[in-house]
Amino acid sequence: MVREYQIIARNYDLAGRASSDIKRTLKAMNVPWSFQKRVCAASYEAEINVVIHSVGGYATFEVNDQAIILDFYDDGPGIPNIELAMTEGFSTASELDHANGFGAGMGLPNMKRSSDLMTVTSDHEGTHVHLVFLRGKADEK
Ligand SMILES: Nc1ncnc2c1ncn2[C@@H]1O[C@H](COP(=O)(O)OP(=O)(O)OP(=O)(O)O)[C@@H](O)[C@H]1O
Ligand SMILES: [Mg+2]
Repeated sequence: MVREYQIIARNYDLAGRASSDIKRTLKAMNVPWSFQKRVCAASYEAEINVVIHSVGGYATFEVNDQAIILDFYDDGPGIPNIELAMTEGFSTASELDHANGFGAGMGLPNMKRSSDLMTVTSDHEGTHVHLVFLRGKADEK
């Protein structure tokens, strides 16, 4: 199963819509709560990043027997220094983002923690965040 979601920049009302659908789907699959939690936490952070830091993009959500795979793509402006961006507490979020409760600089580090594999590639044309959650581990038994 593969699903795709549009993610619209600066739309705080729709922000989290993709992650909500992912959550609903995992719940319907009877995936254990602890596993749902780590997928949803990462998914929400990645989605919000596209909303607040990019010009917009889309996500894909794949479920197979081995893993849950999430991909977030946007159309820029990209992350100039990925290593710095992955540092806990680093953020370029605006006042408005802070007013909406974002900008602690914890999204990327938390995605790294909750996923089994994370790769980030980025240039000025866009960012791609790839997240893999392996099934059949302790939290899914
Ligand atoms: N899709 C993206 N496009 C461009 N820059 C990004 C993107 N995702 C992250 N960044 C950059 O990396 C920084 C760190 O991201 P991270 O998610 O860790 O923190 P944050 O979004 O600023 O705050 P938080 O996630 O805690 O609300 C961001 O402030 C931004 O500069
Ligand atoms: Mg973030």
